[in-house]
Amino acid sequence: MTDPDTNPAVTYGGYLKLDELLSLQQPRSEGPEHDEMLFIVIHQVYELWFKELLHEFTRVSQLLTDDDTHRAQHTLKRILTILKVMVAQLDILETMTPLEFLSFRERLQAASGFQSDQFRQIEFVLGRKTDAAVARFPAGSRARTALEQRYAEPTVWDAFLHYLSREGYVVPPAMLDRDVTKPVEPSDAIQRILIDVYRRDTKNAELCERLVDLDEGVQEWRYRHVKMVERTIGAKSGTGGSAGAAYLRTTIGQNFFPDLWAIRTQL
Ligand code: HEM
Repeated sequence: MTDPDTNPAVTYGGYLKLDELLSLQQPRSEGPEHDEMLFIVIHQVYELWFKELLHEFTRVSQLLTDDDTHRAQHTLKRILTILKVMVAQLDILETMTPLEFLSFRERLQAASGFQSDQFRQIEFVLGRKTDAAVARFPAGSRARTALEQRYAEPTVWDAFLHYLSREGYVVPPAMLDRDVTKPVEPSDAIQRILIDVYRRDTKNAELCERLVDLDEGVQEWRYRHVKMVERTIGAKSGTGGSAGAAYLRTTIGQNFFPDLWAIRTQL
């Protein structure tokens, strides 16, 4: 029998650390302004989804490395479902009018989603890595350590190319041994392989389609985020110091997996 003094029963609040969790929403505005609570909660919720996405991306790469196609697809389906929820949640923030946001905006000072290290980690895992994104965080911090690790790790695309090679496709050695810290460049050789996959190999063509869904899903979030930014702050610059919506528009339409998009014209 377990001793209730030394080994208390698990409770809902204890397991989820609710006391800590519910103490973490701390508005900075006087009053405080009513809408700041929504602003904090939604950003915290996004950071939790980012955490879960990163957890699942690590799993997808591992499952591809294990040649477990079925479960890799299953995990990608979960990732896509989370992304849909993340896009839908922007509707909630869009109930906040420009004036409601302005009621506390100056309290944010230079803080911005631009500084989300988990968002950068997601970009890194999917192949968009920059030294600048790592250097933005102090040496030894949680964010910097996590980004340094993701920077050095193979991307989901690398795991996929190795998987294709083990499936019998002749992936050029230069692609398999590529420097994983560099951006994924379009490759004619990979495109020829992918066309072959789409024409002859239903199982792996399905896997490719889930990767396209993923690429499109992140872009859908970016598009909805920039529209929300436009309707909330117009053409004003961002708290993070960028040109605001004008900067964000430059990030739309950049594909993580360019080869998967290129082959559509040739199919
Ligand atoms: C009223 C709501 C929001 C406004 C007005 C807003 C505005 C902006 C602006 C202007 C930028 C460009 C960087 C800068 O200069 O600050 C930005 C970047 C960003 N925001 Fe938001 N944002 C809002 C809500 C959110 C939410 C809820 C998230 C979820 C985490 C988020 C995540 C991000 C991310 C990840 C970036 C960096 C994008 C990139 O560099 O590709 N934002 N935001």
